Amino acid sequence: MQEHRITSSQARGNEDNALDLTLRPKTLSEYIGQNKVKQNLEIFMAAAKKRNEPIEHVLLYGPPGLGKTTLAGVIANEMNVNIKVTSGPAIERAGDLAAILTNLEQHDILFIDEIHRLNKTIEEVLYPAMEDCALDLVVGKGPSARILKLDLPRFTLIGATTRISLLSSPLRDRFGAIYPLNFYEEDEIAQIINRSAQILSVQIEKTANTIIAQRARRTPRVANRLLKRVRDWADVKADGFVTEDVARAALEMLEVDALGLDQVDRKLLAAIIEKFQGGPVGLNTLAAATSEEMATIEDIYEPFLMQLGFLERTPRGRIATKRAYAHLGMQSNPRNDDLLFD
Ligand SMILES: Nc1ncnc2c1ncn2[C@@H]1O[C@H](COP(=O)(O)OP(=O)(O)OP(=O)(O)O)[C@@H](O)[C@H]1O
Ligand SMILES: [Mg+2]
Repeated sequence: MQEHRITSSQARGNEDNALDLTLRPKTLSEYIGQNKVKQNLEIFMAAAKKRNEPIEHVLLYGPPGLGKTTLAGVIANEMNVNIKVTSGPAIERAGDLAAILTNLEQHDILFIDEIHRLNKTIEEVLYPAMEDCALDLVVGKGPSARILKLDLPRFTLIGATTRISLLSSPLRDRFGAIYPLNFYEEDEIAQIINRSAQILSVQIEKTANTIIAQRARRTPRVANRLLKRVRDWADVKADGFVTEDVARAALEMLEVDALGLDQVDRKLLAAIIEKFQGGPVGLNTLAAATSEEMATIEDIYEPFLMQLGFLERTPRGRIATKRAYAHLGMQSNPRNDDLLFD
């Protein structure tokens, strides 16, 4: 069950919210990694500041927990403007969006999380707002209905999505900058753990940090969560000091393996290998065989398994790679050997 996974990259409830708030970087210099995006953004923001204009609309995309929401906050902070936060599913009617837009102040940032989940009619309200700072309101009904044009303040829309492929192209085209967030390098994750440990006053050995970083799925949210669980373990069993042994023992108890895979990842790979001879197997068949939801497999598990080179998406379905066989200690299937990647 995804909600209970320690390694889930998705945010979970109050615990993560509180943690996210204390640990969330506020400035670009505190924001670790994603160097290309940061370099681009620096110029983008400096140019806008120089012209005393708001920055153009920005779209951030990438797997959960990589820092999209955090980066939106950083941009607002660096630009010295307010940020209003909402999400695709929260905006149910065109009127909801109209209310949000008319309440913006000059140069404000509107952050729409999960922007791929906005429905079509609402998207259409967004187009003129993004392009001309205009809001077209339909007043009245039937033959007497009229369109009322309202001017909006100049604002910046920051959209975030884990599924850029689901975004309509008219919406995508209206963003001035589109930035992909990628999985972090291990040493960047180690820096994030260091920073978080300092904020949380956790004493941690360098080798323990490395062990956590190796298992954090190259994802800051997972790194912070693992650090917290390891700290709990250390508090109870080791006077709060996180040594290498403490980190290993705590992570073992959490059933997170040396590469950060948990039971669900292993279950998915084992299903492809054992039930479908290594694949190719269609997503829906795999979902049925593992009792996981298709969207969850696609959004949460697969990006990291692909990043590790354990899984390939092919037109005929998913394939477990030789590396996946090796990691699980299984013999690869000769039938598939020519399909397998090293
Ligand atoms: N570059 C970074 N440097 C340091 N910490 C980071 C960085 N990016 C993210 N974090 C930490 O990871 C946590 C999760 O990040 P965030 O909520 O921004 O992810 P997200 O991409 O918005 O995820 P989702 O798709 O689930 O909304 C933050 O609370 C923050 O503490
Ligand atoms: Mg977010």
